[in-house]
Amino acid sequence: MTSAGSIPTVVNDAPTELDQDPETPLVSVLRNDLGLRGVRQGCAIGECGACVVLVDGRAERSCQLPLSAVAGRRVTTPEGLGTPDRPHPIQQAFLDRQAAQCGYCLNGIIMSTAALLDGAEPTEPAGSPSLSEEQIQAALAEHLCRCGTHHRILRTIRELAGHEQPSSRPPIRMDDGPDGRDAPEVAADIRADRAEEVPTEPGRPAEPLPGALATAPNVEDWLRPLPDGRIEVRSGRAELGQGVRTALAQVVAAELGVPLERLVVRSAATDGTPDEGYTAGSNSLEAGGAALARAAVAYRRLAAEGGDAAGGPPRGPIRPDDVPRWAGGPVGEAAPRSDLPAKLTGAPAYVHDLALPGMLYARALLPPREDARPAAVDLSVAKDLPGVEAVVHDGRLLLVVAAREEVAVRAVRRLAGTTRWEPEPPQPGAGPGTGTGTGPIARTNPPVRTPVVEEPGVEQALASGRVVRASYAKPYEAHASVAPSSAVALVEPDRTTVWTHSQGVYPLRRELAAAFGLPEDALTVRHVDGPGCYGHNGADDAAGFAVAAARAVPGRPVRFQYAVHDEFGWEPYGPPMSADLAASLDAAGRVTGWRHRIRTDAHTARPHGTGDRLVVSWLRANAGPRPWSGGGEGGVRSAEPLYELGARDIVGEYAPGPLRTSALRSLGGYFNTFAIESFVDELAEAAGADPVAFRLAHLRDERARAVLEAAAAHAGWRERVGPSGQGGHGQGVAVTRYKGSKAYVAQVVEVDVDGATGAIAVRRVVIACDAGVVVNPDGLRNQLEGGVLQGLSRALYEQVRHGRDGVESLDWTTYPVLRFADVPALEVVLLDRPGLPPLGAGEASTPPTPAALANAVDDAVGIRVRELPLTPDRLRARLEELTDAELARVRI
Ligand code: FES
Repeated sequence: MTSAGSIPTVVNDAPTELDQDPETPLVSVLRNDLGLRGVRQGCAIGECGACVVLVDGRAERSCQLPLSAVAGRRVTTPEGLGTPDRPHPIQQAFLDRQAAQCGYCLNGIIMSTAALLDGAEPTEPAGSPSLSEEQIQAALAEHLCRCGTHHRILRTIRELAGHEQPSSRPPIRMDDGPDGRDAPEVAADIRADRAEEVPTEPGRPAEPLPGALATAPNVEDWLRPLPDGRIEVRSGRAELGQGVRTALAQVVAAELGVPLERLVVRSAATDGTPDEGYTAGSNSLEAGGAALARAAVAYRRLAAEGGDAAGGPPRGPIRPDDVPRWAGGPVGEAAPRSDLPAKLTGAPAYVHDLALPGMLYARALLPPREDARPAAVDLSVAKDLPGVEAVVHDGRLLLVVAAREEVAVRAVRRLAGTTRWEPEPPQPGAGPGTGTGTGPIARTNPPVRTPVVEEPGVEQALASGRVVRASYAKPYEAHASVAPSSAVALVEPDRTTVWTHSQGVYPLRRELAAAFGLPEDALTVRHVDGPGCYGHNGADDAAGFAVAAARAVPGRPVRFQYAVHDEFGWEPYGPPMSADLAASLDAAGRVTGWRHRIRTDAHTARPHGTGDRLVVSWLRANAGPRPWSGGGEGGVRSAEPLYELGARDIVGEYAPGPLRTSALRSLGGYFNTFAIESFVDELAEAAGADPVAFRLAHLRDERARAVLEAAAAHAGWRERVGPSGQGGHGQGVAVTRYKGSKAYVAQVVEVDVDGATGAIAVRRVVIACDAGVVVNPDGLRNQLEGGVLQGLSRALYEQVRHGRDGVESLDWTTYPVLRFADVPALEVVLLDRPGLPPLGAGEASTPPTPAALANAVDDAVGIRVRELPLTPDRLRARLEELTDAELARVRI
């Protein structure tokens, strides 16, 4: 350790003496000593770009700079650009374009944009900066965004550089009939509608109450007046970057007939909001919004009746005839998100940014493999480090708690350097090892069978006509959130409080109570926003570690932070999947029978109260084996096709694999849609039909037909049979209704394929969506765009590699993801259905993407790739197998 000394610098124009160890990472000093938490805490290994600041005007990663490197230099952080009340023009530009989902990556990107624009020569006479696309891409080359906001971010920077003007198509209202009016006229009508009063008359037909009202049946569970005249909205849903806080407020404002400013939306918390389980599965607006809309109608009814019996605020049961109208007020408006001003201007906004009085910092030394235990560990190397407050050693669990974050990191490094690991002996009840170094897993043989549809007649159908068969597969995939998970815990004599970015505060409370032997009512769990999560990632595990660390220092709040390679190595992955499909075609080219076999691992292993679902639970002494939770709906999600296919036989089979798996965005819906929509293209070719025409011929659902036709029309679909041979350029289509009950989405993807290298360049994606009434068109577009870009990332790049020594994908170098340079043009067509309830859309646009991509590749080069990801190596290997005649057919 280098001796401390006073280091002079200028931070946000203020001369500052920094009296810390010169080797301390600049990010720690800025965040923890100067309280500048707009410098986001990211990967700490220089890969994500979240912590970028300006040093003498240049964009630099503050996690990679020791404090000594900024001696005598000027440091500018996001706080030095602007504030939530007075944003810098660049921050304002990102706010104006709502160019964020979780927003965690944005402050670093905004700082790089500032450096980029500052270094650009102004053009004459307009004065706008002169920047090439190459310069913009170079500035973003080392920034990551995992939410898929790339398109908006690029558009914002290009607009700042004077390259392009904002544009977005208004939603197409679907209830006007074929009267020939165009979208702007319809939009004007929508605005006129919104000027109407919210009807107060009772008597609309009663509708069944949403499930969320079963445990929170009263108005006051959801809505409460505040002393200042505003109304508190108590939603159990978590803001995950999907803009749900704003969309829910829009729904409530519309039904109450009040402006958005009158509403204050609380974050999910066990001490203040209803138990709505997990914020997942595209249910937030559809189910959570439905409950709140009902509550708002009831609130208005009760308020009109004079409040409760004593004239107090509205209280009492929500009734079946409290039916929302899903229109009016701000519903349909592109209301800006209420959470973004803080997130994009450097204010503390995430659980990583919490700074409670006396807070300590915790880090873990995790086993290098799931089945390793410490054979020899010398705790003194950590305990002896000045600033270390506690070291926890409980079985395989090793935690360090320190007064400073960098001290905790250093202590864990010391522990790592002196700890020897050996394989954990098999535990009672555990099955045989897997040979891949991933620990004790309960074995299930034969697989758990989950039938979806088993209709008679499939055997006969497949014994006649023309039968087409194909098999598809995908690998393990990681969440790879832009920043490692974190949580804060405080253990007091009668209460333990946890601040977390978990998707489910109530299930997590049950899990923590069971894991640590606490009464549930002595635990408070509060949601605080975090970096984007796309299912069950490491957020819950971080909360478990935080509690374990805080128990060692009662009365002191402790913030636990995962190291990036630990979360990559221990997070629950999206499971591998494979599928065998077979279908028969009659002489007219119609499908007469359909068989689909799905094989996969568990898709839902979230904490729920058994006390054995968190990493901390498997590491402590006397821990049982990691449980396995295969079966259920997750792996067969969206496996029932939209089409009329004759007799159908669709079955899922679950068996445990070597790695921990759980929910990743869209669960099995992602792969099942890939397999179904790829296979439908193969059937269309076998039937001698155009892929769009073949789908329409088998599609009765009018809403599905409408999105498919809208996507095809907007994209300029070129009719074809089989690969069209456009010299490496291809167009592919896919359509689905997520879960069979959520939003309808159709996509057309356009690609260029390099016949020599196998590289795929995605040029354009057209997305058509019917999500019922469009509550917030901009928010919906943002979700759809993000889903598509994440789908492209998964389909093109993502696979968790693992071997004898465990997981090998431990950062974004070993787990490549979509970069800014890979982003295609995105065009969204919304089919608005005012008066119909909203349909969940948060996960709806990811599933069609890989199939539309694979279909486009097939169109381009005549190669059907049935295994994800579609890497250049995989494609090149197939290209090398093509005969001259096949090459001539597709003209590459
Ligand atoms: Fe970029 Fe979430 S908005 S990581």
